[in-house]
Amino acid sequence: MANEDQRDYWNDDAGRKWVEHRKRLDSMLGPITKILIDAIAVRQDEDILDIGCGSGELSWRLAGLGANVTGIDLSNPMVDAARAAGSGSAQFLVADASEFCADTSFDAAVSRFGVMFFDDPAAAFANIHANLVEGGRLVFACWATPDRNAWAMVPAMAVRPFLADAAPPDPHAPGPFAFADDARVRTILSDAGFRDVECELHDIDVIMSESGGLDDATAFACQIGPGARALGELDKSERPKAREAIREALRPHIGEDEAVAMAGAIWLVSAAA
Ligand SMILES: C[S@@+](CC[C@H](N)C(=O)[O-])C[C@H]1O[C@@H](n2cnc3c(N)ncnc32)[C@H](O)[C@@H]1O
Repeated sequence: MANEDQRDYWNDDAGRKWVEHRKRLDSMLGPITKILIDAIAVRQDEDILDIGCGSGELSWRLAGLGANVTGIDLSNPMVDAARAAGSGSAQFLVADASEFCADTSFDAAVSRFGVMFFDDPAAAFANIHANLVEGGRLVFACWATPDRNAWAMVPAMAVRPFLADAAPPDPHAPGPFAFADDARVRTILSDAGFRDVECELHDIDVIMSESGGLDDATAFACQIGPGARALGELDKSERPKAREAIREALRPHIGEDEAVAMAGAIWLVSAAA
């Protein structure tokens, strides 16, 4: 079955943690949600597909602007959370975006970080293309290169010395940085039938803790993101030392008022079907 590893991953601890921390994540990713909403430029009553909708923040925001939104996601806990998060013109389905086939075509397909996890991105985007009307818009955010995303790489690199297999990961493997290379994204989308592909780089501050200082930022980095994922691969006996290493790596990033803000960068990708 396609995307089985990701289905397992997002239906297990990762999905539950994203639900548990959803308010904080939505606040942390707020600047990106705004960039996306501006770029999507919703038209009244249009039909929008939110790919990898998670707990539904982007879907509900678009529904609030007058769109009819269908959010799809592999994760049962995330879809349950999305359904419970609002009422109005948004519906949520547990579905794989690489196979999903709707009865009607969508005017736009959008995503906040839900498109970098496909085993076969070319096939997945060909399927997304097939779900859009002719000329339909594709707009999504994905993380740019790891060196521009300290919020993710500082915790991940802190855990690396504790990993048995510390070989550099495949940069194209499904995961947060699978679409970091904009040339690759352009090729995937063009091959899938999209035209007018644009990748616009946006630098943003990622607020790991608003005012909770090192303890709070460390606890968060141990729950969500590449550092947390690496931590999960360790033997339980190794984890306290690795957590301490994350804490020390975050220490230089504490700012005024115990805020911890770190560098981040995304590609805002847009194209037409
Ligand atoms: C990083 S989370 C982002 C969630 C949400 N868009 C947000 O910004 O809060 C990635 C999401 O993509 C979903 N996902 C991964 N692969 C998918 C696929 N093939 N089809 C549908 N959803 C998928 C995951 O279940 C997860 O909810």
